Amino acid sequence: MLKTYHIITYGCQMNISDSERITSVLENLGLKKSQKMKEADLIVINMCSVRQSAVDRVYGLIIKLQSLNLKSQTILTGCILKKDKKKMSSFFNYVLDIKDLSCWSKALNFKKEIKRDYLKITPRYSNSFSVNIPIMTGCNNFCAYCVVPYTRNKEISRPSNDIVKEVENAVEKGAKEIWLLGQNVNSYKDGKTTFPKLLEKINKIPGDFWIRFTSSHPKDFKDSLIKTMKTCKKTAPYLNLPVQSGDNEILKKMNRIYTIEDYKEIVEKLKKEIPNIALSTDVIVGFPTETKKQFQNTVNLFKEIKYDMAYISKYSRRAQTEAFKLKDDVSIKEKIKRERILNKIVAKTAFENNRKYIGEITDVLIDSETKNNSWLGKTKEYKTVKISQKIKNEKLMGELVKVKITKASLWGLKGELV
Ligand code: SAM
Ligand code: SF4
Ligand code: F3S
Repeated sequence: MLKTYHIITYGCQMNISDSERITSVLENLGLKKSQKMKEADLIVINMCSVRQSAVDRVYGLIIKLQSLNLKSQTILTGCILKKDKKKMSSFFNYVLDIKDLSCWSKALNFKKEIKRDYLKITPRYSNSFSVNIPIMTGCNNFCAYCVVPYTRNKEISRPSNDIVKEVENAVEKGAKEIWLLGQNVNSYKDGKTTFPKLLEKINKIPGDFWIRFTSSHPKDFKDSLIKTMKTCKKTAPYLNLPVQSGDNEILKKMNRIYTIEDYKEIVEKLKKEIPNIALSTDVIVGFPTETKKQFQNTVNLFKEIKYDMAYISKYSRRAQTEAFKLKDDVSIKEKIKRERILNKIVAKTAFENNRKYIGEITDVLIDSETKNNSWLGKTKEYKTVKISQKIKNEKLMGELVKVKITKASLWGLKGELV
Protein backbone atom coordinates (compact mmCIF):
# COMPACT_ATOMS: atom_id res chain seq x y z
CA MET A 1 0.00 0.00 0.00
CA LEU A 2 1.42 3.38 -1.03
CA LYS A 3 1.47 5.85 1.85
CA THR A 4 4.10 8.46 0.99
CA TYR A 5 5.38 10.19 -2.13
CA HIS A 6 8.34 12.28 -3.23
CA ILE A 7 8.39 14.36 -6.44
CA ILE A 8 11.55 15.46 -8.24
CA THR A 9 10.92 18.20 -10.80
CA TYR A 10 13.29 19.30 -13.54
CA GLY A 11 12.72 21.97 -16.18
CA CYS A 12 10.69 25.13 -16.50
CA GLN A 13 7.83 26.76 -14.58
CA MET A 14 5.39 24.67 -16.63
CA ASN A 15 6.82 21.48 -15.13
CA ILE A 16 6.81 23.01 -11.65
CA SER A 17 3.15 23.84 -12.21
CA ASP A 18 2.39 20.31 -13.47
CA SER A 19 4.02 18.90 -10.33
CA GLU A 20 1.53 20.93 -8.29
CA ARG A 21 -1.31 19.08 -10.02
CA ILE A 22 0.47 15.75 -9.49
CA THR A 23 0.77 16.64 -5.78
CA SER A 24 -2.94 17.35 -5.63
CA VAL A 25 -3.86 13.98 -7.19
CA LEU A 26 -1.52 12.04 -4.88
CA GLU A 27 -2.70 13.88 -1.75
CA ASN A 28 -6.32 13.22 -2.72
CA LEU A 29 -5.44 9.53 -2.82
CA GLY A 30 -4.33 9.88 0.81
CA LEU A 31 -0.56 9.87 0.19
CA LYS A 32 1.61 12.11 2.36
CA LYS A 33 4.63 14.04 1.15
CA SER A 34 8.00 12.65 2.18
CA GLN A 35 10.89 15.14 2.33
CA LYS A 36 13.39 12.36 1.67
CA MET A 37 13.36 10.37 -1.56
CA LYS A 38 14.74 7.28 0.19
CA GLU A 39 11.79 7.12 2.56
CA ALA A 40 9.00 7.50 -0.02
CA ASP A 41 6.79 4.61 -1.19
CA LEU A 42 6.28 6.40 -4.50
CA ILE A 43 8.90 8.47 -6.34
CA VAL A 44 7.75 10.67 -9.23
CA ILE A 45 10.29 12.12 -11.64
CA ASN A 46 8.93 14.98 -13.75
CA MET A 47 11.58 15.38 -16.42
CA CYS A 48 12.74 17.97 -18.97
CA SER A 49 14.39 17.27 -22.33
CA VAL A 50 15.17 20.78 -23.54
CA ARG A 51 18.92 20.19 -23.35
CA GLN A 52 20.90 16.95 -23.13
CA SER A 53 22.15 18.02 -19.67
CA ALA A 54 18.54 17.83 -18.38
CA VAL A 55 18.18 14.28 -19.72
CA ASP A 56 21.57 13.30 -18.29
CA ARG A 57 20.34 14.33 -14.86
CA VAL A 58 17.62 11.69 -15.09
CA TYR A 59 20.16 9.06 -16.13
CA GLY A 60 22.21 10.10 -13.08
CA LEU A 61 19.14 9.66 -10.89
CA ILE A 62 18.48 6.21 -12.37
CA ILE A 63 22.00 5.13 -11.34
CA LYS A 64 21.41 6.54 -7.85
CA LEU A 65 18.07 4.75 -7.53
CA GLN A 66 19.65 1.48 -8.63
CA SER A 67 22.49 1.81 -6.11
CA LEU A 68 20.03 2.52 -3.29
CA ASN A 69 18.05 -0.61 -4.13
CA LEU A 70 14.81 0.90 -2.82
CA LYS A 71 11.46 -0.86 -2.62
CA SER A 72 9.64 2.29 -3.79
CA GLN A 73 7.41 2.40 -6.84
CA THR A 74 8.61 4.87 -9.47
CA ILE A 75 6.85 7.02 -12.07
CA LEU A 76 8.53 8.85 -14.93
CA THR A 77 6.59 11.74 -16.46
CA GLY A 78 7.06 15.18 -18.05
CA CYS A 79 8.72 16.08 -21.33
CA ILE A 80 10.25 12.88 -22.69
CA LEU A 81 11.62 12.23 -26.18
CA LYS A 82 10.69 8.97 -27.90
CA LYS A 83 14.19 7.52 -27.83
CA ASP A 84 14.62 8.26 -24.11
CA LYS A 85 11.20 6.80 -23.34
CA LYS A 86 12.30 3.56 -24.94
CA LYS A 87 15.62 3.52 -23.08
CA MET A 88 14.30 4.67 -19.71
CA SER A 89 11.02 2.78 -19.39
CA SER A 90 12.65 -0.41 -18.06
CA PHE A 91 14.01 1.52 -15.07
CA PHE A 92 10.62 2.77 -13.89
CA ASN A 93 7.44 1.01 -12.77
CA TYR A 94 5.34 3.44 -14.78
CA VAL A 95 5.91 5.96 -17.55
CA LEU A 96 2.81 8.16 -17.46
CA ASP A 97 1.70 11.08 -19.57
CA ILE A 98 0.92 14.25 -17.62
CA LYS A 99 -2.11 14.77 -19.89
CA ASP A 100 -3.56 11.51 -18.44
CA LEU A 101 -3.09 12.69 -14.85
CA SER A 102 -6.77 12.19 -14.02
CA CYS A 103 -6.25 8.47 -14.69
CA TRP A 104 -3.00 7.99 -12.75
CA SER A 105 -4.96 6.71 -9.75
CA LYS A 106 -6.27 3.86 -11.88
CA ALA A 107 -2.74 3.05 -13.10
CA LEU A 108 -1.63 2.92 -9.46
CA ASN A 109 -4.50 0.56 -8.63
CA PHE A 110 -6.47 3.10 -6.67
CA LYS A 111 -10.05 4.06 -7.48
CA LYS A 112 -11.05 4.52 -11.08
CA GLU A 113 -11.29 8.12 -12.29
CA ILE A 114 -13.09 9.57 -15.25
CA LYS A 115 -10.68 10.81 -17.85
CA ARG A 116 -10.74 14.61 -17.97
CA ASP A 117 -8.49 17.50 -18.95
CA TYR A 118 -5.60 17.47 -16.47
CA LEU A 119 -5.63 21.26 -16.27
CA LYS A 120 -9.12 21.03 -14.71
CA ILE A 121 -7.55 19.33 -11.68
CA THR A 122 -7.24 21.80 -8.79
CA PRO A 123 -3.53 22.13 -8.03
CA ARG A 124 -1.86 22.07 -4.64
CA TYR A 125 0.37 25.18 -4.97
CA SER A 126 3.86 24.93 -3.52
CA ASN A 127 3.81 28.66 -2.91
CA SER A 128 0.64 30.50 -1.94
CA PHE A 129 1.85 34.07 -2.62
CA SER A 130 3.45 33.49 -6.05
CA VAL A 131 1.25 31.20 -8.07
CA ASN A 132 1.88 29.53 -11.44
CA ILE A 133 -1.24 29.26 -13.60
CA PRO A 134 -0.98 27.53 -16.99
CA ILE A 135 -3.16 29.16 -19.62
CA MET A 136 -2.19 26.74 -22.36
CA THR A 137 -0.06 23.72 -23.05
CA GLY A 138 1.89 22.48 -26.06
CA CYS A 139 3.44 24.44 -28.90
CA ASN A 140 2.85 24.74 -32.66
CA ASN A 141 5.94 26.75 -33.54
CA PHE A 142 8.55 24.09 -34.28
CA CYS A 143 11.63 26.22 -33.74
CA ALA A 144 14.35 24.14 -35.36
CA TYR A 145 16.28 23.43 -32.14
CA CYS A 146 13.38 22.76 -29.77
CA VAL A 147 11.84 19.55 -28.43
CA VAL A 148 8.73 21.09 -26.88
CA PRO A 149 6.37 20.56 -29.87
CA TYR A 150 7.34 16.86 -29.73
CA THR A 151 7.16 16.39 -25.96
CA ARG A 152 4.11 18.56 -25.23
CA ASN A 153 2.47 18.22 -28.62
CA LYS A 154 -0.11 20.56 -30.15
CA GLU A 155 -0.92 23.90 -28.59
CA ILE A 156 -4.17 23.89 -26.60
CA SER A 157 -5.57 26.96 -24.81
CA ARG A 158 -7.48 26.53 -21.56
CA PRO A 159 -11.00 27.95 -21.32
CA SER A 160 -10.68 31.56 -20.12
CA ASN A 161 -13.40 31.03 -17.47
CA ASP A 162 -11.32 28.26 -15.86
CA ILE A 163 -8.27 30.51 -15.80
CA VAL A 164 -10.16 33.47 -14.32
CA LYS A 165 -11.66 31.19 -11.65
CA GLU A 166 -8.22 29.79 -10.79
CA VAL A 167 -6.77 33.31 -10.46
CA GLU A 168 -9.75 34.44 -8.33
CA ASN A 169 -9.26 31.50 -5.97
CA ALA A 170 -5.52 32.07 -5.70
CA VAL A 171 -5.96 35.80 -5.01
CA GLU A 172 -8.65 35.06 -2.41
CA LYS A 173 -6.17 32.76 -0.67
CA GLY A 174 -3.52 35.50 -0.59
CA ALA A 175 -1.62 35.31 -3.90
CA LYS A 176 0.29 38.52 -4.59
CA GLU A 177 1.86 37.45 -7.85
CA ILE A 178 0.22 35.47 -10.65
CA TRP A 179 2.38 33.89 -13.36
CA LEU A 180 0.38 33.06 -16.49
CA LEU A 181 2.23 30.24 -18.21
CA GLY A 182 2.44 28.90 -21.75
CA GLN A 183 5.12 28.21 -24.35
CA ASN A 184 3.76 31.11 -26.36
CA VAL A 185 1.18 33.02 -24.34
CA ASN A 186 0.70 35.57 -27.16
CA SER A 187 -1.06 32.99 -29.29
CA TYR A 188 -3.59 32.16 -26.54
CA LYS A 189 -7.10 31.95 -27.94
CA ASP A 190 -10.38 30.80 -26.46
CA GLY A 191 -13.20 31.82 -28.79
CA LYS A 192 -13.07 35.60 -28.87
CA THR A 193 -10.72 35.79 -25.89
CA THR A 194 -7.20 36.55 -27.10
CA PHE A 195 -4.27 37.02 -24.73
CA PRO A 196 -4.78 40.80 -24.29
CA LYS A 197 -8.47 40.15 -23.59
CA LEU A 198 -7.54 37.52 -21.02
CA LEU A 199 -5.20 40.01 -19.33
CA GLU A 200 -8.05 42.52 -19.18
CA LYS A 201 -10.34 39.95 -17.54
CA ILE A 202 -7.69 39.06 -14.95
CA ASN A 203 -6.87 42.71 -14.34
CA LYS A 204 -10.51 43.25 -13.29
CA ILE A 205 -10.30 40.69 -10.48
CA PRO A 206 -10.36 42.64 -7.20
CA GLY A 207 -7.26 42.51 -5.01
CA ASP A 208 -3.71 43.75 -4.74
CA PHE A 209 -1.65 41.47 -6.97
CA TRP A 210 0.79 41.53 -9.89
CA ILE A 211 0.26 39.76 -13.19
CA ARG A 212 3.31 38.25 -14.92
CA PHE A 213 3.44 36.02 -17.97
CA THR A 214 5.93 33.84 -19.82
CA SER A 215 6.95 33.00 -22.56
CA SER A 216 6.21 35.46 -25.32
CA HIS A 217 7.04 34.89 -28.96
CA PRO A 218 8.11 38.03 -30.86
CA LYS A 219 6.26 36.88 -33.99
CA ASP A 220 2.91 37.16 -32.13
CA PHE A 221 3.69 40.21 -30.02
CA LYS A 222 1.08 42.66 -31.28
CA ASP A 223 0.58 46.38 -30.53
CA SER A 224 -2.70 45.47 -28.81
CA LEU A 225 -0.71 43.55 -26.18
CA ILE A 226 1.59 46.51 -25.52
CA LYS A 227 -1.47 48.72 -25.11
CA THR A 228 -3.08 46.24 -22.71
CA MET A 229 0.11 45.92 -20.67
CA LYS A 230 0.13 49.70 -20.37
CA THR A 231 -3.51 50.11 -19.40
CA CYS A 232 -3.92 47.06 -17.13
CA LYS A 233 -2.26 48.40 -14.00
CA LYS A 234 -1.82 44.99 -12.39
CA THR A 235 0.45 43.84 -15.22
CA ALA A 236 4.00 44.03 -13.91
CA PRO A 237 6.50 46.05 -15.97
CA TYR A 238 8.71 43.06 -16.67
CA LEU A 239 8.89 41.03 -19.84
CA ASN A 240 10.83 38.01 -21.01
CA LEU A 241 11.03 38.31 -24.79
CA PRO A 242 13.19 35.49 -26.16
CA VAL A 243 15.29 36.62 -29.11
CA GLN A 244 17.35 33.38 -29.51
CA SER A 245 19.83 35.07 -31.91
CA GLY A 246 20.73 38.56 -33.05
CA ASP A 247 21.38 37.44 -36.62
CA ASN A 248 18.69 37.25 -39.30
CA GLU A 249 20.17 34.27 -41.13
CA ILE A 250 20.40 32.26 -37.93
CA LEU A 251 16.87 33.30 -36.96
CA LYS A 252 15.67 31.99 -40.30
CA LYS A 253 17.47 28.69 -39.80
CA MET A 254 15.93 28.52 -36.33
CA ASN A 255 12.47 28.99 -37.92
CA ARG A 256 11.71 31.93 -35.65
CA ILE A 257 9.68 33.80 -38.35
CA TYR A 258 10.67 37.36 -37.23
CA THR A 259 13.69 39.47 -38.13
CA ILE A 260 15.91 41.33 -35.73
CA GLU A 261 14.39 44.57 -37.09
CA ASP A 262 10.91 43.32 -36.10
CA TYR A 263 12.25 42.45 -32.65
CA LYS A 264 13.85 45.85 -32.12
CA GLU A 265 10.65 47.57 -33.19
CA ILE A 266 8.68 45.72 -30.49
CA VAL A 267 11.27 46.66 -27.86
CA GLU A 268 11.21 50.30 -28.97
CA LYS A 269 7.42 50.45 -28.70
CA LEU A 270 7.50 48.72 -25.31
CA LYS A 271 10.08 51.15 -23.94
CA LYS A 272 8.11 54.10 -25.29
CA GLU A 273 4.75 53.00 -23.87
CA ILE A 274 6.05 51.48 -20.62
CA PRO A 275 9.25 53.44 -19.84
CA ASN A 276 10.06 51.55 -16.62
CA ILE A 277 9.80 48.11 -18.27
CA ALA A 278 12.57 45.63 -17.40
CA LEU A 279 13.50 43.20 -20.15
CA SER A 280 15.00 39.75 -20.19
CA THR A 281 15.60 37.35 -23.03
CA ASP A 282 16.52 33.79 -23.97
CA VAL A 283 19.37 33.25 -26.38
CA ILE A 284 21.18 30.24 -27.81
CA VAL A 285 24.89 30.44 -28.58
CA GLY A 286 26.56 28.13 -31.08
CA PHE A 287 23.51 27.14 -33.15
CA PRO A 288 24.79 25.04 -36.11
CA THR A 289 26.69 27.18 -38.67
CA GLU A 290 26.74 30.28 -36.41
CA THR A 291 29.89 32.15 -37.45
CA LYS A 292 31.84 34.62 -35.32
CA LYS A 293 30.41 37.41 -37.44
CA GLN A 294 26.85 36.21 -36.90
CA PHE A 295 27.48 35.91 -33.17
CA GLN A 296 28.77 39.48 -33.23
CA ASN A 297 25.27 40.53 -34.30
CA THR A 298 23.93 39.02 -31.06
CA VAL A 299 26.64 40.91 -29.15
CA ASN A 300 25.58 44.15 -30.85
CA LEU A 301 21.93 43.48 -30.05
CA PHE A 302 22.73 42.86 -26.38
CA LYS A 303 24.68 46.14 -26.21
CA GLU A 304 21.83 48.01 -27.85
CA ILE A 305 18.86 46.60 -25.91
CA LYS A 306 20.62 46.70 -22.51
CA TYR A 307 18.81 43.70 -21.04
CA ASP A 308 18.15 43.37 -17.33
CA MET A 309 18.62 39.63 -17.46
CA ALA A 310 19.33 36.90 -20.03
CA TYR A 311 18.96 33.13 -20.04
CA ILE A 312 21.91 32.10 -22.19
CA SER A 313 22.02 28.48 -23.45
CA LYS A 314 24.74 26.64 -25.29
CA TYR A 315 23.12 24.90 -28.25
CA SER A 316 22.32 21.27 -27.49
CA ARG A 317 21.53 18.94 -30.40
CA ARG A 318 18.15 17.31 -29.85
CA ALA A 319 16.73 14.22 -31.51
CA GLN A 320 13.48 14.62 -33.48
CA THR A 321 14.06 18.35 -34.13
CA GLU A 322 14.82 19.90 -37.55
CA ALA A 323 18.24 21.13 -36.44
CA PHE A 324 19.21 17.56 -35.53
CA LYS A 325 19.89 17.13 -39.24
CA LEU A 326 22.57 19.84 -39.09
CA LYS A 327 26.10 19.22 -37.88
CA ASP A 328 26.71 20.60 -34.38
CA ASP A 329 29.75 22.43 -35.75
CA VAL A 330 30.51 25.09 -33.13
CA SER A 331 32.94 23.62 -30.60
CA ILE A 332 32.02 23.51 -26.93
CA LYS A 333 35.01 25.75 -26.20
CA GLU A 334 33.66 28.37 -28.59
CA LYS A 335 30.12 28.04 -27.14
CA ILE A 336 31.48 28.64 -23.62
CA LYS A 337 33.41 31.67 -24.91
CA ARG A 338 30.30 33.14 -26.56
CA GLU A 339 28.24 32.48 -23.43
CA ARG A 340 30.82 34.34 -21.31
CA ILE A 341 30.88 37.32 -23.67
CA LEU A 342 27.09 37.73 -23.46
CA ASN A 343 27.08 37.20 -19.71
CA LYS A 344 29.60 40.02 -19.29
CA ILE A 345 27.49 42.42 -21.35
CA VAL A 346 24.30 41.62 -19.39
CA ALA A 347 26.15 42.03 -16.10
CA LYS A 348 27.16 45.51 -17.22
CA THR A 349 23.78 46.60 -18.61
CA ALA A 350 21.89 45.12 -15.64
CA PHE A 351 24.16 47.05 -13.26
CA GLU A 352 23.59 50.27 -15.22
CA ASN A 353 19.81 49.67 -15.17
CA ASN A 354 19.82 48.78 -11.48
CA ARG A 355 21.57 51.99 -10.48
CA LYS A 356 18.52 53.95 -11.64
CA TYR A 357 16.52 52.61 -8.70
CA ILE A 358 18.80 54.04 -5.97
CA GLY A 359 16.83 56.41 -3.77
CA GLU A 360 13.43 55.12 -4.95
CA ILE A 361 10.80 53.75 -2.60
CA THR A 362 9.30 50.66 -4.16
CA ASP A 363 7.03 47.69 -3.41
CA VAL A 364 8.84 44.43 -2.78
CA LEU A 365 7.26 41.00 -2.54
CA ILE A 366 9.23 39.10 0.08
CA ASP A 367 9.93 35.59 -1.21
CA SER A 368 12.79 34.09 0.77
CA GLU A 369 14.76 34.20 3.97
CA THR A 370 18.46 33.55 4.14
CA LYS A 371 20.44 32.56 7.22
CA ASN A 372 20.64 35.18 10.00
CA ASN A 373 17.13 36.56 9.39
CA SER A 374 18.00 38.34 6.15
CA TRP A 375 15.14 38.72 3.70
CA LEU A 376 14.96 38.78 -0.09
CA GLY A 377 12.18 39.76 -2.42
CA LYS A 378 11.29 40.96 -5.89
CA THR A 379 10.18 44.33 -7.22
CA LYS A 380 7.45 44.71 -9.81
CA GLU A 381 10.26 44.87 -12.41
CA TYR A 382 11.43 41.44 -11.17
CA LYS A 383 14.57 42.80 -9.54
CA THR A 384 15.88 40.89 -6.55
CA VAL A 385 16.15 43.08 -3.45
CA LYS A 386 18.03 42.23 -0.29
CA ILE A 387 16.61 43.91 2.80
CA SER A 388 19.45 45.35 4.88
CA GLN A 389 17.70 45.12 8.28
CA LYS A 390 17.79 41.72 9.99
CA ILE A 391 14.26 40.96 11.10
CA LYS A 392 12.85 38.07 13.06
CA ASN A 393 9.29 37.90 11.79
CA GLU A 394 7.93 34.83 10.06
CA LYS A 395 4.95 36.81 8.84
CA LEU A 396 7.14 38.76 6.38
CA MET A 397 7.23 35.85 3.92
CA GLY A 398 4.86 36.51 1.01
CA GLU A 399 4.15 40.09 2.09
CA LEU A 400 4.29 43.23 -0.05
CA VAL A 401 6.46 45.77 1.76
CA LYS A 402 7.77 49.26 1.00
CA VAL A 403 11.53 49.43 0.57
CA LYS A 404 13.91 52.33 -0.01
CA ILE A 405 16.61 51.25 -2.47
CA THR A 406 20.07 52.16 -1.19
CA LYS A 407 22.48 50.17 -3.33
CA ALA A 408 22.67 48.48 -6.75
CA SER A 409 24.80 45.54 -7.79
CA LEU A 410 25.19 43.42 -10.93
CA TRP A 411 22.29 41.12 -10.24
CA GLY A 412 20.10 43.03 -7.83
CA LEU A 413 19.39 45.76 -5.34
CA LYS A 414 19.74 46.42 -1.63
CA GLY A 415 17.30 48.45 0.44
CA GLU A 416 15.79 49.33 3.77
CA LEU A 417 12.24 48.67 4.95
CA VAL A 418 10.41 51.97 5.36
N1 SAM B 1 8.64 28.97 -25.65
C1 SAM B 1 9.77 29.69 -25.26
C2 SAM B 1 10.29 30.53 -26.42
O1 SAM B 1 9.74 30.57 -27.46
O2 SAM B 1 11.31 31.12 -26.23
C3 SAM B 1 10.91 28.87 -24.74
C4 SAM B 1 10.75 27.51 -24.33
S1 SAM B 1 12.23 26.60 -24.21
C5 SAM B 1 11.56 25.34 -23.29
C6 SAM B 1 13.26 27.53 -23.11
C7 SAM B 1 14.56 27.98 -23.69
O3 SAM B 1 15.43 26.90 -23.84
C8 SAM B 1 14.47 28.56 -25.09
O4 SAM B 1 14.09 29.89 -25.08
C9 SAM B 1 15.85 28.36 -25.64
O5 SAM B 1 16.66 29.49 -25.44
C10 SAM B 1 16.37 27.18 -24.83
N2 SAM B 1 16.51 26.00 -25.69
C11 SAM B 1 15.53 25.31 -26.29
N3 SAM B 1 16.03 24.31 -27.03
C12 SAM B 1 17.38 24.37 -26.89
C13 SAM B 1 18.46 23.62 -27.41
N4 SAM B 1 18.26 22.61 -28.25
N5 SAM B 1 19.71 23.96 -27.05
C14 SAM B 1 19.92 24.99 -26.22
N6 SAM B 1 18.95 25.74 -25.70
C15 SAM B 1 17.68 25.45 -26.03
FE1 SF4 C 1 10.20 25.72 -28.38
FE2 SF4 C 1 9.87 27.62 -30.15
FE3 SF4 C 1 7.76 26.49 -29.04
FE4 SF4 C 1 9.32 28.09 -27.63
S1 SF4 C 1 8.09 28.71 -29.38
S2 SF4 C 1 8.52 26.10 -27.00
S3 SF4 C 1 11.33 27.66 -28.42
S4 SF4 C 1 9.21 25.48 -30.39
FE1 F3S D 1 9.79 22.95 -19.90
FE2 F3S D 1 11.79 21.33 -20.36
FE3 F3S D 1 9.39 20.64 -21.10
S1 F3S D 1 11.87 23.50 -20.44
S2 F3S D 1 8.31 22.51 -21.50
S3 F3S D 1 10.10 20.98 -19.03
S4 F3S D 1 11.25 20.27 -22.24
